[in-house]
Amino acid sequence: MITRQTVDKIMEAIDIVEVIGEFVQLKKRGANYVGLSPFANEKTPSFTVSPAKGIFKDFSTGKGGSAVTFLMELEKFTYPEALKWLAKKYGIEVDETQDRPQDTAADNHRENLMVVTSYASKFFQDAMWETADGKTIGLSYFKERGFTPDTIKKFELGYSPDAWEAFTSSALNAGYQQQFLEETGLSVKRDNGSLYDRYRGRVMFPIHGFTGRVIAFGGRTLKTDKNVPKYVNSPESEIYHKSNVLYGLYFAKKSIRDQDNCYLVEGYADVISVHQAGIENVVASSGTSLTVEQIRLIGRLTKNITILYDGDAAGIKASLRGLDLILEEGLNVKVVLFPDGDDPDSYVRKVGSTAFKNHIEQHKQDFILYKTNMLLKEAGNDPIQRANVIRDIVESIAKIPDSIKASVFVRECSHQLQIDERVLLTELNKMKLAKAKKDGQQQQRQQYPRPDEMPDEPHFFDEDVYAAETAKPIETSITQEREIIRLLLVYGNQIINWDNIANTYIGPFIIAELSDVEFEQSDCKKFTEIYKQQLENGVLPDEQFFIHHPDKPIVDLTIDLLATKYTLSENWYNMHKIFVHEEQMNMKATILGAIFHLKKQKVGKILDQLRTDLQNATDPIDQDAIMGQYMQMKKIEKHIVDYLGSVIIK
Ligand code: UTP
Ligand code: MN
Repeated sequence: MITRQTVDKIMEAIDIVEVIGEFVQLKKRGANYVGLSPFANEKTPSFTVSPAKGIFKDFSTGKGGSAVTFLMELEKFTYPEALKWLAKKYGIEVDETQDRPQDTAADNHRENLMVVTSYASKFFQDAMWETADGKTIGLSYFKERGFTPDTIKKFELGYSPDAWEAFTSSALNAGYQQQFLEETGLSVKRDNGSLYDRYRGRVMFPIHGFTGRVIAFGGRTLKTDKNVPKYVNSPESEIYHKSNVLYGLYFAKKSIRDQDNCYLVEGYADVISVHQAGIENVVASSGTSLTVEQIRLIGRLTKNITILYDGDAAGIKASLRGLDLILEEGLNVKVVLFPDGDDPDSYVRKVGSTAFKNHIEQHKQDFILYKTNMLLKEAGNDPIQRANVIRDIVESIAKIPDSIKASVFVRECSHQLQIDERVLLTELNKMKLAKAKKDGQQQQRQQYPRPDEMPDEPHFFDEDVYAAETAKPIETSITQEREIIRLLLVYGNQIINWDNIANTYIGPFIIAELSDVEFEQSDCKKFTEIYKQQLENGVLPDEQFFIHHPDKPIVDLTIDLLATKYTLSENWYNMHKIFVHEEQMNMKATILGAIFHLKKQKVGKILDQLRTDLQNATDPIDQDAIMGQYMQMKKIEKHIVDYLGSVIIK
């Protein structure tokens, strides 16, 4: 358990813009920051961070919360993991009531797997730096490859001793459970149930998650035997999903953001060599073709990818399709080729870092133009082949979401293909239309939540209006309930200073006024109960209290409300032409309006119920009684409506 004092220190240190800024490119807009949602694939930013409140809200997925919630959502951290990450970031020492590793394990499976991989990473490093074999075999291998000690340490490279149980028995002795050794793939189970090391005699490349913790390994053999797999990688586990990970991203992310470009290479060795040469914005897809998830990981940091290819033509052709995926995600793709037989790693070692950088600058070309060239060369003069090339290229261009960018490519490719621009455009539009149709169907499923409605304009009560109103979905009353909660959150601890009521806080005033109203929506009901409870304890709860409340639905409701209309969403202002200023100027109308609208809703509901009862009642005595109640309620409603009319002067 992390101690209360540590938690407090962490909370004080958090700068939410800084924390989220590590994962999302944020731009300042007014008092807030906006960026593209890391939880959804979107083209227009709907992700908003409010530094003043210490919260974020993602309007495209509805997620929202504090910096801690953000890390938990994005990195799938547990609460303690998120706190530890923040502590590390802000250099805060974590006080923990110490449990043995296997005890914490019981609490949290993932955390346990992480603890094991981090132990293993340390073990492999120690085995390399501190044992005779480690030095002569592992370390000297890396040095021969041209990695400096600093680089080796930075990437936490290691060596797994050439013995059956060196790692496994060390881990078991240290108290790590067999289950986690197996699940992380560090150990393999024999038929008799005992475990042996998976990576015997291999040099170890730990794979770091986005936040720098080791989540998996790649172990390279030192043998040249073709029957031995060159790399053995960790299996998929709860902490390692290969398709979501890019090797080197943790070390590259800052530079990717600074340089606004990400170099993509194929292998572990390429990442390390290129990084060492001073190009730190480099990651590897680790042998497999790039996945959408990996592209999105990069897309959070930059919209520019430059692929560094070794000069092997077959390999390039195979990956062309994969590159369309990058275009589709709205990223710009450039490619750089290296002379035949060289990969980035061997090339940088051959020519040195300056010449390497020059090569990149001089040979980078746009992916589509490069692809056009390459396919054209292949097609030669065969007209059918050329027609295929044209279709193929237009298909790539059609993937580009930005139509201005696409039209530039149409022009350039029309030169290359020696074909009228209009022909390409016609073809392009056809494809885009087909694509738009498909997207349109998907779009409807993820529409933005509609901002809450304002309380209705007051109107005089009559049966028609009444009927229309009850026919509305019950949402209206939920909206009213939520409006009350919002007012409690935003204005609860402001003092009322109206002519006839003074020196009262708005929060307790609202609570008292609504003491006879039963909230229907469970979260709203719970919220008011918590609020009441706090008041009874002599505390006037503020928004921070609810933002950090342990109950998730309460936090969600809070963020939702704080993040809508008056506070975060600027769109809302534009849509409704209402300003915070106005709400505050007319505070009395706002507060009383909300209270009485909610009351009116509730009365409406009762009236509705009474009418049903009246229809169902057969006994005339019952009918009379119900009718009496009905008239009574109508009178109350009339009062409310009149009152609303007098309070709300708009
Ligand atoms: P490479 O064979 O190009 O490896 O495979 P490399 O990293 O350049 O290794 P060196 O230079 O020979 O030491 C590229 C990537 O493909 C994955 C690894 O991630 C590797 O870095 N791979 C390759 C495997 O996972 N398993 C293999 O058997 C081979
Ligand atoms: Mn290589």
